[in-house]
Amino acid sequence: MDKIVVTGGKRLSGEVEVSGAKNAALPILASSLLADGEHTYRNVPDLADVNTMLKVLRTMGCEAGRHPGTGKAARSCTVRVGEQAGARKVIPEAPYDLVRTMRASVLVLGPLVARHGRARVSMPGGCAIGARPIDQHLKGLRALGADIHLTEGYVEARARRLRGATVVFDKITVTGTENVMMAAALARGRTVLENAAREPEVEELARLLNKMGAKISGAGTNLITIQGVDELQPVDHAILPDRIEAGTLLVAAAITGGDVLVKPAVPEHLDAVIQKLREAGCQISSEAGGLRCKGPRVLRSTNITTTEHPGFPTDMQAQLMVLMAVADGTSVIREHIFENRYMHVAELDRMGAQITVDGPTAVVRGVKKLSGAPVMASDLRASAALILAGLRAEGRTEVSRVYHLDRGYERLERKLHGLGAEVRRVRA
Ligand code: EPU
Repeated sequence: MDKIVVTGGKRLSGEVEVSGAKNAALPILASSLLADGEHTYRNVPDLADVNTMLKVLRTMGCEAGRHPGTGKAARSCTVRVGEQAGARKVIPEAPYDLVRTMRASVLVLGPLVARHGRARVSMPGGCAIGARPIDQHLKGLRALGADIHLTEGYVEARARRLRGATVVFDKITVTGTENVMMAAALARGRTVLENAAREPEVEELARLLNKMGAKISGAGTNLITIQGVDELQPVDHAILPDRIEAGTLLVAAAITGGDVLVKPAVPEHLDAVIQKLREAGCQISSEAGGLRCKGPRVLRSTNITTTEHPGFPTDMQAQLMVLMAVADGTSVIREHIFENRYMHVAELDRMGAQITVDGPTAVVRGVKKLSGAPVMASDLRASAALILAGLRAEGRTEVSRVYHLDRGYERLERKLHGLGAEVRRVRA
């Protein structure tokens, strides 16, 4: 298994390019099942999770893959759906072996039942960060008239034609909102989603679906209205930049006292993160379609509570914790989205951080220095956090289990290296 080796102490500077958003690419790829024909997606990040979604689509009979070549070409994907587009007939089934490697595979459920009348999708299990049930996805699809049964670890859903309904989510869910929104796009009549997720990736999916011919309004707010249409058309679409990758790179600049321009980035997507970086003493400015972060000599403590967008994102919690670990004073984190998202704490403590966890609350006492150590990544954002800690630590840090990193960051070590960090991948 590959490792990332970091020698800390370098101040980062320069300009770095952000890839397309993983959490927008995944539902967008799944949405191709809503329309026969050839779909083209650009700025698709080259990530293990995206490759898994392409594999899910291929398993279901689609022709799905990246364009050959390097650079921009390689960031484009084509998905051909249906026999007329030269693919096979859609097999509406997502097997356990794939769903088990990536929970987001469940995003094919809504499109399959809406367009193909039937779906058999393995139930995702829990994962390192929490139990992560999908009851709200199923509640929404049932409200639209899908007949759903759980058998032998699979969700089996059937429907002749879904019909619009009002769905009030009991819990705000990103992929749940996306799944039901995709299904409702082809339902008969009007669907109203209340207590919907407001994340930029939900808005991006709605933008894409509208380009395909859907009639969706209100995405980006907690009330989404969808007027169902009879059919959708494939389109060509470029995916928005990854706000979590951008945020991670801003923290890299902040904790090394660096000066880095991160682009492209949409500042409004990062308001909560920018606010916390400023509280910690960073100078953040919008510049040339991106964000510049200048880290201070001494970082100040700050507190965060993770909540749904536009609140502070749980996907930035581990990275901010690293900043707090080396800030002057004591910071407090309240994790309100996932019950088990503190697996990185024990590893950070091994590097000299002083963090105590009590249920959803972590208290981080800033220390003057971290020291490099061999550490193990437990999930995607934790692995990024450990690399950040390595940038700041004295000596050498070796992060193992970086397959977690590769699920959601496109060559992070190369990007950091380009900014002057001493970081490299050691192939197994
Ligand atoms: N939940 C339920 N029932 C449901 C769905 C969710 O109880 O039916 C709970 C979850 O257990 C969790 C909370 O609701 O406590 C929020 O979960 P949500 O469904 O919003 O998460 P998700 O859609 O599975 C997406 C991202 C995650 C990100 C979360 C929260 C994708 C593919 N994944 O997951 O991204 O952390 O939203 O913002 O969009 C990551 O990129 O590292 C990552 C984990």
